[in-house]
Amino acid sequence: MRIHGSEPRGARRVPLSSISEGRFGRMFRRLRPATEYGDDQLAALAEQMREPEPAPGGAPGGWGHPGAPAGDGDNPSVPSGYTYFGQFVDHDITFDPTSQLGRTNDPDALHDFRTPRFDLDSLYGSGPADEPFQYDRNEPDALLVGESNGQPDLPRNAQGIALIGDPRNDENIIVSQLQLVFLRFHNKILREVVNPDPAITEENRLAETQRLVRWHYQWVIVNDYLPRICGRELIDQLFELDQTSGQRQVELRYYDPKNDPYMPVEFSGAAFRFGHSQIRAAYNLSDAVPDRPIFLPGDAVGQFDDLRGNRPLPPNWTIDWHMFLPIDGSTPQPSRRIDAKLTPGLFDLPRISSDQSLALRNLKRGKALGLPSGQDVARFLGVTPRTGAELGTELDPTPLWFYILKESDLEDHRGERLGKVGARIVAEVLLGLLAGDKLSYINVEPSWRPSAPIATQPDRFELADLVRYATA
Ligand code: HEM
Repeated sequence: MRIHGSEPRGARRVPLSSISEGRFGRMFRRLRPATEYGDDQLAALAEQMREPEPAPGGAPGGWGHPGAPAGDGDNPSVPSGYTYFGQFVDHDITFDPTSQLGRTNDPDALHDFRTPRFDLDSLYGSGPADEPFQYDRNEPDALLVGESNGQPDLPRNAQGIALIGDPRNDENIIVSQLQLVFLRFHNKILREVVNPDPAITEENRLAETQRLVRWHYQWVIVNDYLPRICGRELIDQLFELDQTSGQRQVELRYYDPKNDPYMPVEFSGAAFRFGHSQIRAAYNLSDAVPDRPIFLPGDAVGQFDDLRGNRPLPPNWTIDWHMFLPIDGSTPQPSRRIDAKLTPGLFDLPRISSDQSLALRNLKRGKALGLPSGQDVARFLGVTPRTGAELGTELDPTPLWFYILKESDLEDHRGERLGKVGARIVAEVLLGLLAGDKLSYINVEPSWRPSAPIATQPDRFELADLVRYATA
């Protein structure tokens, strides 16, 4: 852990204007938008992506339900906690609430409502001066934790709306509980590491706590999440160990922001949406609350029926993280394989008035953002492109999002991680954002690594360790 008392290098850097920071842009500027697919063609492709309904009689035994037979599409390499960590990361770096689904949008003119940095603006908002309702009045520098039905929950207003940095982190119960983990992670570091340290002045305590929270989170992205999702070999190649200095250096070939990092639409509109195929039909929240479907169709559902968010946590619904991550030897529920199938609950998204199918929204968004086809991107990356026939679609050239999902499934690992095109985009953009952030640990203190009391093992710090520390 770094020596306290001295200010981290770069901490006095003047924040950038939102005009240069919140930018979308294109990663493959030379590639033209894919063929103008008709809406009916996209609707047919989206429907083709619907996973079969769970077996009659419900769980256990249905597709993606806890207890279903092994080998039905579960991913043994990625526990389901990582699905929602991916969603949480997405909400930290990209938010496009303004592009129109029904027409072409110019990515260069779109504003990213989140900073394209791993700074957890989704957790901290714009800070206590501007958003004091997120901070605890009774405890300086702590984030406010709420309570619903006698259990810790996100703080909420009288109508149950979460008072947090990004409303999407209350979109379903699992991501909402993960946001709560991060609130608690912040408070625990403040109480156990920062406040007791006499070298940290009172006015630096918030910044120092945020720095530690962000660096542990960044560590998990680089050393745990990315190798699982993109393959360790690719991450080691892009985040190379320099034998002379003993430090790692980011070496990218395709994501090359000339100035400040921007959010590429190929990532936000296609590649990083791979996570939608990892979502299970249902989850065990704890021993007491088994097999809750992610979303049931319609609005007339009872409070215990599904995992939709944007409401107080129902009684006894606190998540047992042992069921989502390998904590103390537990066997967590796996995520689903990365393939071109989405669980049926995602075809009837709650609280959306039109285009409730997430698959169709993603395909239409790709068209509206003028994304290149999967085959063109593959060629550009030097990967032999797969034909539409190989991918199982008449659409050739093929929409990038679909291409990336099906490509993963067709590789030898059968969707245990991303395929060549998807992995390259995701790894380059996430590592590029970290390298472009002057306050990230790899820039300020490249030799930094998690240590006691936050990390309990010298050679390992994974998402499970972060969650265990936060919730112990
Ligand atoms: C139950 C879980 C999830 C739900 C209900 C959900 C739903 C949505 C919805 C409704 C959108 C906007 C679609 C549009 O109109 O274009 C979206 C965007 C997106 N999702 Fe998800 N999502 C989930 C999980 C994930 C996961 C696990 C990941 C990645 C690992 C992910 C990555 C993204 C990305 C990158 C965007 C684009 C964000 C932007 O730039 O605005 N999502 N998701």
